Amino acid sequence: DLGGHDTYMHKEIAEQADAVDRVLAGRIDDRFATVHLGGLNLDAREARAVRRVKILGCGTSYHAGMIGAQMIEELARIPADAEPASEFRYRNPVVDPDTLYVAVSQSGETYDALAAVQELKRKGARVLGVINVVGSAIAREADGGVYVHAGPEVCVVSTKCFTNTVVAFGLLALHLGRIRDLSVKDGKRIIEGLRKLPGQIAEIMKLEPQIEKLAQEYAEARSMLFIGRVRGFPVALEASLKLKEVSYIHAEAYPASELKHGPLALIEPAMPTVAIVPDDDLLEKNRAALEEIKARSGRILAVAHQEQEKADRTIVVPKNEDELDPILMGIPLQLLAYHTALALGRDIDKPRNLAKSVTVE
Ligand code: F6R
Repeated sequence: DLGGHDTYMHKEIAEQADAVDRVLAGRIDDRFATVHLGGLNLDAREARAVRRVKILGCGTSYHAGMIGAQMIEELARIPADAEPASEFRYRNPVVDPDTLYVAVSQSGETYDALAAVQELKRKGARVLGVINVVGSAIAREADGGVYVHAGPEVCVVSTKCFTNTVVAFGLLALHLGRIRDLSVKDGKRIIEGLRKLPGQIAEIMKLEPQIEKLAQEYAEARSMLFIGRVRGFPVALEASLKLKEVSYIHAEAYPASELKHGPLALIEPAMPTVAIVPDDDLLEKNRAALEEIKARSGRILAVAHQEQEKADRTIVVPKNEDELDPILMGIPLQLLAYHTALALGRDIDKPRNLAKSVTVE
């Protein structure tokens, strides 16, 4: 049931405020400034013993895992990183008993992620799942985990599941943080930020007419560059994936800090850049990158917390806590991908050559 929307992609983008309500529901514990994650199956002593976190997923779920890893490092101060499940599985990884492995998957059926989990379990590792589909293969195989409660996602291209997965990681990071060294004060700050998300997502949805106009401009591009730094980089990666999947426009993402090590050579008026520019301690660095692009006649669309002078266009999104900003900054770019694909007459819910659930290698 499309409920008045023309595609599932549009419906699912529009549902995100409600979906985030669901992933938060019943989990916040104000008294201890933490969250309860009933299915985690990891007690406080075990959580304290974790020395590293390794997150595994494919495609959009891998990108969500990158943001998750960063949140876990920032809030729980546990070294964490994400890797494509398929790559991990084939490089004969060192499986370490003090590492917590986390498999991320919307469907819970992606073959590469499932096989990585099975390999890890065979080697005696503890594996959690961050999964949308309840009772799916990876959920059954994992020792415990967090359901993301996004509801069914029909469009092949993932939008609301990405957002809910990142929020679920925010909850996991807060939980691990509060067992370790995150203060009550910071715990409360993050909880306040989490509670603001649904309202802020609703604010972002009001930008749709502006974004629809921008999409008319960008639909002519043959190729686009997406840049961001640290918290903004996985947002750039995910936004570039979304654009290429639905519009078939070539897009690639780079850390803004790497521009002068190569991709600046691509900059010319026909190669627009989308820049993720959060108002955090890297703001000046990001602005300097915009200047470099402008000086070479590049067109810039910024997603930022305030108008960016060097950008041709800015999509201004609401500010949350620095650690949670990545959850919001990609949402306008889901809309940009959608409207670009619409302008180009693409088959939005079923992009060519793609399947919703990749159950083969
Ligand atoms: C992108 C997309 C894919 C999936 C990937 C993993 O929009 O949908 O990249 O994210 O195939 O799927 P799950 O999360 O089901 O394991």
